[in-house]
Amino acid sequence: MDLLTLDTNTLLHFQKQLQLKYAHYKGKNLKLNMSRGKPCPEQLDLSAGLLEGLDGVFQAADGTDCRNYGGLEGLPEARHLFAELLEVEPEEIIVHGNSSLALMHDLLARAMLFGVDGQESPWSRHPVKFLCPSPGYDRHFALCELFKIEMITIPMRDDGPDLDRIEELVAKDDSIKGIWCVPKYGNPTGITYSDQVVTRLAKMKTKAQDFRIFWDNAYAWHDLTAKSDRLKNILTACKEAGHPDRVYIFSSTSKISYAGAGLAMVATSRANLERLKKQLALQTIGPNKLNQLAHVRFFKNADQVRSHMEKHAAIIRPKFDLAFKIFRTELGDKNIATWSEPRGGYFISFNTLPGCAKQVVQMAAAAGVELTNAGATFPYGNDPQDQNIRIAPTYPPLKELQTALELFAVCVQLVSVEQILQRRKFTPERLPEQNTAQIV
Ligand SMILES: Cc1ncc(COP(=O)(O)O)c(C=O)c1O
Repeated sequence: MDLLTLDTNTLLHFQKQLQLKYAHYKGKNLKLNMSRGKPCPEQLDLSAGLLEGLDGVFQAADGTDCRNYGGLEGLPEARHLFAELLEVEPEEIIVHGNSSLALMHDLLARAMLFGVDGQESPWSRHPVKFLCPSPGYDRHFALCELFKIEMITIPMRDDGPDLDRIEELVAKDDSIKGIWCVPKYGNPTGITYSDQVVTRLAKMKTKAQDFRIFWDNAYAWHDLTAKSDRLKNILTACKEAGHPDRVYIFSSTSKISYAGAGLAMVATSRANLERLKKQLALQTIGPNKLNQLAHVRFFKNADQVRSHMEKHAAIIRPKFDLAFKIFRTELGDKNIATWSEPRGGYFISFNTLPGCAKQVVQMAAAAGVELTNAGATFPYGNDPQDQNIRIAPTYPPLKELQTALELFAVCVQLVSVEQILQRRKFTPERLPEQNTAQIV
């Protein structure tokens, strides 16, 4: 039933049915949340025992007493583990703190205050712009707003951001200092960048000599299926292209062990890392090594991290499958929505008809289902087409998720029907009566 071509009478009757359904859900006084990509309690339970793993033994492999000061760049065994997982050298990574977002914030703040390479001036001396592939991660955009960095929206293609546009922009404007990238199972698109996109980002000529790629590899190991996407190594690509200092790679164990009590890391060239260490040394005497030790003892090696991630997938994959099933059943043939079916990560990127997303989110909220704000996936919270909604299905239990998704599908249909009717400049008085019971 293609709603765009359905005759107006039938559409009106369908609208009535949807209104009844919506009222039914509203009467349930729901309080459900699909707004943020949080692990559910069962996922957190997978790391049971991690915090108890120290068992009174606080020495790291090299004898370091992890209860004491020091070890700015992180425990050697933690650096080894995550270097292997991120396919960099241990000397190219710092394991630090619990939040990659905090590392990004601090790096950006330092770039604004001091510059990034000791030669170019602090970024904040002149207007600064960042490229923002969109739909993207709202917190990246919030950081740009915080630091008064002008954001330039870059459209996303099936294999990553539009490189033709990026190359054209960075070649002529030296106020463009950086780009945000979530290169694997992107938030919210689920897209993994192709080799070609990675190579072009590493190679491209930038007018700003101190241009940096903020490579937020938050979902590096977060496959939902047995066949994982393969992401080309950007640090190697940058070295090969003669731009070894171009990229900062961020990641964390927030969605591996504990969100909020995991480990965060940044990998980059040795030169960048040396500079970063000097700055970090003024900020702190060292990270929480006890937590790093607990993580390394718990996970032991990269293979165990990977098999741990399979357990995560086993818990959350049914939630994604449920969403795909409901979307296909309720919306599949109606020509009013498209959505991503990612092979990893935490999100489904959902597109309504242009001009409907805000209203869908409002309607869902009025019936007790909270979604990420429409527009949040674009710079300045402004989706020019008002059509993208980020669905985060991981946290709610399956049964609640089902209700939330079904209600969401009703809202999408109702808002779409209203918009289609409006477009046709329909006025109810002009409608003849007609029995359309067959469309139920
Ligand atoms: C793309 C992306 N980067 C970073 C984060 C936050 O990471 P952390 O918990 O390490 O600060 C998230 C959380 O949802 C995310 O989706």
